[in-house]
This record gives sequence, structure tokens and C-alpha cells, in this order.
Amino acid sequence: MKSVIDILDLSTDEIEELISVACDIIENPDKYAEKCRRKKLATLFFEPSTRTRLSFEAAMYELGGNVIGFSAANNSSAAKGESVSDTVRTVSCYADIIAMRHPKEGAPMVASMAADIPIINAGDGGHNHPTQTLADLLTIFREKGSFENLTVGLCGDLKFGRTVHSLINALSRYSGIKFVLISPDELKLPDYVTNNVLIKKNIPYEVTTDLVGSIPELDILYMTRVQRERFFNEQDYIRLKDSYILTPDKLETAKKDLSIMHPLPRVNEISVAVDSDPRACYFKQVLNGKYIRMALILKLLGVE
Ligand code: NCD
Repeated sequence: MKSVIDILDLSTDEIEELISVACDIIENPDKYAEKCRRKKLATLFFEPSTRTRLSFEAAMYELGGNVIGFSAANNSSAAKGESVSDTVRTVSCYADIIAMRHPKEGAPMVASMAADIPIINAGDGGHNHPTQTLADLLTIFREKGSFENLTVGLCGDLKFGRTVHSLINALSRYSGIKFVLISPDELKLPDYVTNNVLIKKNIPYEVTTDLVGSIPELDILYMTRVQRERFFNEQDYIRLKDSYILTPDKLETAKKDLSIMHPLPRVNEISVAVDSDPRACYFKQVLNGKYIRMALILKLLGVE
């Protein structure tokens, strides 16, 4: 029984295998329609979600399985003070696999120690979000054909943006990757990511506050939302929330084959006028998220 708490819980070979299964699902969905018959996925969401929870649920339904769960902490016994460990021990009696989102960093890890079924981290606080990264990787693979030799701009809230942390970890395993880290000073990538990943692995990176000046060299521009719910002080959020707004004019100097990505939800950071640009990939990420989660559920349940 294997859990996925961190993207590095999956080897690059395993990620490639997931991507190839996801591509096969896209081509041959009928082949997979009964694969998880009589299996149950529990979605335990202690924090808001649209895409992650619903894509997990859609994924399980498209595999012929069933779904139970809750979509807010106050709909569960967490509201009565139950521990995460007791909750997942309980849910393990009803389900075959759990996808869990929690505001506390490390909660899914704690859950994986208490459960005897696989736990998938669907986002833990400002820490990690490995399945968004799988969706991102499938998107990059479908757009670019490989994960090598890419200059990747990450823009916005690099401090609290958990999707950024997982994506950096994942891409740092491929050669020829360079990161351009674009954020206000207050929202810079945490030192633990810079030190333990970028510096330790000798990955080239640039730190800048300048989005427009960075755009011409990028193969991928990954925009993120300023994570309001992680701020201690609303004034700071208000001051920083519109630090970057991507508009069509800012893309004039961009590469023709730039991929514009965003894990969504978007607030203001990408103008809707960018949506019709063929380089916009964020709604493709949404759909890819369902396929790659189907592949992940199959793998963790050991379904052939
Ligand atoms: C992201 C998250 O929850 O971290 N959303 C998602 O899962 N697609 C990004 C965000 O909330 O900004």
C-alpha cells in the first residue's frame, strides 16, 4: 500500500507510467469504465476546493467506482474535535482509498501513518499539492512533448503557493530546467525549497520582481493566485493581491510556443482577454487533472 503525500513519493519512471496510462485513458476511455467497480474513494476535504475534489470524484466515477466524503471540515466530526488520525482510521473502514485536503501542513502525512489504505495528499496548507503537479506535468507533456530544456517562469505567490513547491520538486529531476521566480519580495519562494531543491541540486534559477522583462525567455509561464487564506493580515493581502496581472499586451514579446499555465482558481492575475490566446493552457490543466487522477487511483489501488 502506497500513499502519495509528496510528488517525490513517485519516481520519474512512475510519473511517466501515470502519464502514459492517462494518455491511454484519453484515447480509450471505454476500456477503463469498469476498472474500479465496487471500489470506493473517500474525499476528505477540510478546506475549500472545486477542481481537485470534483476531478477526483469524476475520475472515480469514470472508472466505475463510487465516492463518499465531505467537502468542509464543519461537515465532519473534525468540528467536534476529532483528530485527523481517528478520522482516517474510521474512513479506512468504509473506503479503499482517500484523497485528503487539509489546511495544516503535514496532516495527510499524519493520516497516512494512521490509515491502512492509500492516502493521496490533495493539498496541505501552504506546503505541497502533488496531484496538481501531476496535472501540470501531463499538460506540459502534451504541450511540449518532454520535461527537458525548459525555462519555467513561476509568478505570483511563491511563498504560500503549494502547487509551485510541488512543481519545482518535480521538474528539478529533469535536465536543462531553469526557473525564473517572479514575485514580490514578501512572497518569495520559501528558503526550504530554494535551499533543499534549487541550490542543493544546482538548478539554475533567477529571482526577480519583473514579470514583463522575464516573459521573452520563458517556455512556460505558471501564474498563481495570492493565497489570501494564508495571510495573517488582510491589509498585506490587499497590498499584494494585484502585484501581477497578465494581459495580452504583456504577451507581445513572448515566445510563439509559450505555455501559459495556472492551477486555478484565478482571481485577477490573468485577464480573461488572455483566455482566447492559443497559448493559454489553464483549462487544459483542469481536464488533464481528471485523467491523471484516474491513472493515479488505478495505480494506488493496484488495478491492472
Ligand atoms: C490550487 C490549490 O488548492 O493549491 N488549486 C487547485 O487545487 N487547483 C491553487 C490555489 O488555490 O490557488
